[in-house]
Amino acid sequence: MRGLALEGLPVGAKDWIRLGGRAVVGRAVLGAALPYPDAAFDLIVCALAIHYADDRGAAFAEFFRVLRPGGAAVISTQHPVIDWLRKGGSYFDTALETDPGRIPGGDQPVRFWREPLSAPCTAATGAGFLIEKVIEPLPAESMRARYPDDYQKLTTEPGLLILRLVKIASHNAPDPRGDPAGPDLRAVTTAGRLHRARGPPLAGRLAGQ
Ligand SMILES: C[S@@+](CC[C@H](N)C(=O)[O-])C[C@H]1O[C@@H](n2cnc3c(N)ncnc32)[C@H](O)[C@@H]1O
Repeated sequence: MRGLALEGLPVGAKDWIRLGGRAVVGRAVLGAALPYPDAAFDLIVCALAIHYADDRGAAFAEFFRVLRPGGAAVISTQHPVIDWLRKGGSYFDTALETDPGRIPGGDQPVRFWREPLSAPCTAATGAGFLIEKVIEPLPAESMRARYPDDYQKLTTEPGLLILRLVKIASHNAPDPRGDPAGPDLRAVTTAGRLHRARGPPLAGRLAGQ
């Protein structure tokens, strides 16, 4: 298995130990062309960085390109609901926001994109991905005693959002319109099996039933 961990931070020896040497740790500007050939990886991990990219759609398109068919991308980001509660305004707005950032050497404003939940989902499916899992993680039990305030907050409010995205083996053409349904009609049966069919959009099909 060949994985790509896209890291914003300098990569040190500890990162390699943690990854067991099984992944390439890459540093790249999200939204720009990744310096890897097509279908080079089985798994991409992009932790807490996608909301900084000006063009999230282009970033997802590059993830899709460098994954082999059947591969997956695991993306984590700030939860859209908590960003909206913190910043106010309309939940449905896409807005460039600023947080105070604490870095060695002094505080520095950090810009990030706040957008509704549907936006990263649409960007991912528009790039060709199928969303396999949506995870709103709860804090680990070990956090309760050590960080009681944070534990309490994170058990009652969302903190992070994790998406596991798959590049379906037989799925090849990203949809430039960013249609959430993707270029093909996809429906998941109650048995959880994926069916794909070409034809009019799902809404049209249902209306014509
Ligand atoms: C919250 S840190 C996450 C770092 C690491 N992935 C982790 O989980 O600990 C966000 C990182 O995203 C990086 N970053 C910000 N804008 C970026 C961009 N447009 N493209 C790639 N990385 C970016 C920053 O340099 C920062 O290191």
